[in-house]
Amino acid sequence: MMDTSNVNDFTNRVVLITGAGQGIGRGFAKGFARAGARVAIVELNEAKARAVAAEIEAEHGEGVVIAISADVADPSAVEAAVADTVAAFGRVDIAINNAAIFSTLKMRPFEEIPYEEWRDVMRVNVDGVMLVAKACAPVMRKNRHGRIINISSGVVTLGRPHYLHYVASKAAVVGMTRAMARELGADGITVNALLPGATFTEIERETVSPEQKSQILAMQCIKRHETADDLLAAALYLASDGAEFVTGQSIAVDGGTTFR
Ligand SMILES: NC(=O)c1ccc[n+]([C@@H]2O[C@H](COP(=O)([O-])OP(=O)(O)OC[C@H]3O[C@@H](n4cnc5c(N)ncnc54)[C@H](O)[C@@H]3O)[C@@H](O)[C@H]2O)c1
Repeated sequence: MMDTSNVNDFTNRVVLITGAGQGIGRGFAKGFARAGARVAIVELNEAKARAVAAEIEAEHGEGVVIAISADVADPSAVEAAVADTVAAFGRVDIAINNAAIFSTLKMRPFEEIPYEEWRDVMRVNVDGVMLVAKACAPVMRKNRHGRIINISSGVVTLGRPHYLHYVASKAAVVGMTRAMARELGADGITVNALLPGATFTEIERETVSPEQKSQILAMQCIKRHETADDLLAAALYLASDGAEFVTGQSIAVDGGTTFR
């Protein structure tokens, strides 16, 4: 029988979060620290990674967070980031593949997307997810416990136009989640995807006009804008011991915009 008395206790858990220097990832880092976990921030932007680590240290003291500057699309940098996390905290229990080329993307018809940009999006949003999972799996396998949470997007379900590379990359994340779940389940490792809707963070989104903002609300069952906390709550559940029987799933957290 599973003991469900403390499924939300992350005191002995170590979470590695990519792209946690801002936005949704920053919310994950701060929220998991608040839930008692030790946190490794793996982020391209070193200054932002350090700033989020400093916020966490100010709240929880030293020794609970490390900031690692790394490109998730660089295999050796990812290996080193996971090794640094293990050196600092002894293990990796939860990996959240959140880093992506996203808020900096210019929306345009797919025929106008420069091929270089297409490749960059695939490299970070697809290769990055695979590389982080590949580096974490042996560490998790050793403990016969692991949680991999991949951040996809509701744009896959909607087929949202004007960033085809991004949509393709996030659809790949759903497929990888299912296949990885089958490969890793026997080792006690679950793999799930979260599909956020339009989520408003501290980062201004020039691509969303006021008209689009009200259209977004019109499509949702729940009539308020999504925040990083909505995703944090879902991630805490998927990362919990209580979610050990949930794997390979793609869970939309979007106020009821899409039904899968
Ligand atoms: N905000 C939304 O509306 C929304 C909706 C659906 C899905 N998502 C997904 O949620 C995740 C977070 O979204 P966000 O709004 O916080 O995005 P964001 O663009 O604000 O933040 C992305 C973070 O990833 C980092 N990053 C980018 N490339 C990297 C690399 N190569 N290596 C390491 N770090 C890198 C960036 O520096 C940044 O800190 C992304 O995967 C995004 O695709 C967001």
